[in-house]
Amino acid sequence: MSEKTAEFKEPFERLQSWLAEAEKSEPNDPTAVALATCTQGGVPSLRMVLMKGCDENGLVFFTNLESRKGRELAENPNVAMLFHWKSLRRQVRIEGAVEPVTTEEADAYFASRPRASRIGAWASKQSREMAGRFEFEAAIAQYTAKFGVGDVPRPDCWSGFRLKPAYFEFWRDRKFRLHERVTFRLYEAGSSWEIAELYP
Ligand SMILES: Cc1cc2nc3c(=O)[nH]c(=O)nc-3n(C[C@H](O)[C@H](O)[C@H](O)COP(=O)(O)O)c2cc1C
Repeated sequence: MSEKTAEFKEPFERLQSWLAEAEKSEPNDPTAVALATCTQGGVPSLRMVLMKGCDENGLVFFTNLESRKGRELAENPNVAMLFHWKSLRRQVRIEGAVEPVTTEEADAYFASRPRASRIGAWASKQSREMAGRFEFEAAIAQYTAKFGVGDVPRPDCWSGFRLKPAYFEFWRDRKFRLHERVTFRLYEAGSSWEIAELYP
């Protein structure tokens, strides 16, 4: 095991360290991450989300539960995530199963969003077909009027998930495509992370 591999004994600290660097160098959305879900029948789909929390308990993102990803996660909680920071020439692959966040966590994050985004969450039937933009704009106007100057509560169909990772791979660019790949695998909950290096 190289000294570089031994730099971090567990993956969350390393991810946080890379995220901190990405925050300084990425032009926007350093926490944007590709999220792959899969139907029970094995058909994958992929889209970007914003990671809104990262600690040893997992990685949190928020979405509409009735969206395509929401429906796929309801039937199959196994996901893959991928960060790619072009400015750093680094990627991180993460795999595991998601769990719903608590009601309190969803409420707290929803309440922190700008008012227009909260109204948008009511108006958007995410991933379902709309007749045209006018339909969406009419729904925004309707909810804007409905909530007036009062509170905009969280819709039941809007919440979040926490990915509990069982696998991380940290990829770092090296000259002549001789890249560095360091993996962390958790064989069972509560055990320690097993670290390995892969050929590039
Ligand atoms: C940089 C970026 C960040 C995004 N963040 C989120 C997010 O946090 N939550 C979300 O539901 N959609 C987010 N989206 C939109 C999704 O990529 C996607 O269009 C939407 O969630 C519908 O996906 P689905 O039909 O697979 O459910 C983001 C898109 C981009 C490009």
